[in-house]
Amino acid sequence: MMNYSKVFQGTAFTSKSAKEINILKDYLFCLDDRGMIAKIVSPEDDDYNAMIQEYQDNDHFHRLKEGEYFLPGFIDLHIHAPQWAQSGTALDLPLYDWLHTYTFPLEAKFADRTFARKVYEDLVHTLLKNGTTTGLYFATVHKEASYLLAEICADQGQRGLVGKVVADDPQQNPDYYRDSDAATALAETEEFILDVKELAKKTKQGVYPVVTPRFIPSCTDEALQGLGELAAKYDTHIQSHCSESDWEHGHVKERYHKTDATALNGFGLLQEKSIMAHSVFLEDNDVNLFAETGTAIGHCPLSNAYFANAVLPLAHFHSQGVDIGLGTDISAGAAPSLYDNAKQAVVSSRMLEDGVDTSLSPETRGVDGSRITINEAFYFATAGGGKSLSLPIGLLEENYAWDVQIVDINAGANKLPIFDENEDLYDVFQKMMYLVKPDNIREVWVQGEKVVSQGDGF
Ligand code: GUN
Ligand code: FE
Repeated sequence: MMNYSKVFQGTAFTSKSAKEINILKDYLFCLDDRGMIAKIVSPEDDDYNAMIQEYQDNDHFHRLKEGEYFLPGFIDLHIHAPQWAQSGTALDLPLYDWLHTYTFPLEAKFADRTFARKVYEDLVHTLLKNGTTTGLYFATVHKEASYLLAEICADQGQRGLVGKVVADDPQQNPDYYRDSDAATALAETEEFILDVKELAKKTKQGVYPVVTPRFIPSCTDEALQGLGELAAKYDTHIQSHCSESDWEHGHVKERYHKTDATALNGFGLLQEKSIMAHSVFLEDNDVNLFAETGTAIGHCPLSNAYFANAVLPLAHFHSQGVDIGLGTDISAGAAPSLYDNAKQAVVSSRMLEDGVDTSLSPETRGVDGSRITINEAFYFATAGGGKSLSLPIGLLEENYAWDVQIVDINAGANKLPIFDENEDLYDVFQKMMYLVKPDNIREVWVQGEKVVSQGDGF
């Protein structure tokens, strides 16, 4: 029998497809020493009992207790790490005012690495406690503090994909918070990419540099062009904001006489490893461009309710072949939890389908076929995120990383309303998606390593 480095036994939920949940009741998950799932054994398999016999007395055998379940760790496709320090504030302002009166002054403070460390350590720990095992982050324009965020992800065991933000246009960014010019922004981005690639070698789970033009309005053409070239040269991920709000979309149309997506593509910024936050106003051609280039959408439903003034036609775009994952968009979305965003994705899609304008007749009030189910929201928080990033994460399948949250439905502080010990497992799953709080997340594992546990001063 092969020598597995760890073996887990318990019931797991993972996506079978975007719409269907696979329930693996009392399965064994066997890891190799890289923290990948090397083998999954079902209770019906011949070697199931022999495997348990062989491993059960071993320190590396982990059996779930009654009421505990494995879920894949969540993948947050859009986080502004510095904005954690203002989460929950200023949500009543429009995007432009919010950026200039709250966000840029806050982000400027990350020139100070001591302040940055305080915020970033707290944020990464908070996200892990909420079940987020992979995070795609915008840091700030400061190269050193951005690197510090990657180091903190590396130290805490989270799979962090981190971007030094580029915002170089002196007409659009305040003098106190921007890159000094395009050439410097590009040189610093290149150094950042090389430094993070070195750091990654010291981690098991991986950390990744991400080419990060903040959004078209904040960057000069020279910076956008150079960033596309850097991403191609180093084969990095790319992230930005696309078609988020009327104001932002209007700026791009006036500047280039084309859509945001077409302009980004012209700079080489749409490719297989690109993730564009929001993208609520994509036109039909843009949707095709996303599908053809493999560009994914980081859907942030809470943020969209505040700043986009629109609902992403999620079901429609997904049906056109666009990869989609979920994001919190801290702090335009105030909640650090993808559970909250998964629920909101369902709610927003229902409001798009059913409409809110009661003066219209029921037949014309919404957009038919817009709704998504909680299964799909779960898919976007897990497998969809992994596919968007082109990484083997988000599914509990062989050759995927062991990135897992262990959910305890009986946690004292938030016991879920389950009164029948034979409750249907799919109903248990749905209750978890709607009712789990960090109190229920007993342990979180990334790449086969335990990174948080309720036992260690959680
Ligand atoms: N567009 C440019 N910067 C930002 C940001 O920090 N948050 C959001 N939601 N949109 C942006
Ligand atoms: Fe954002």
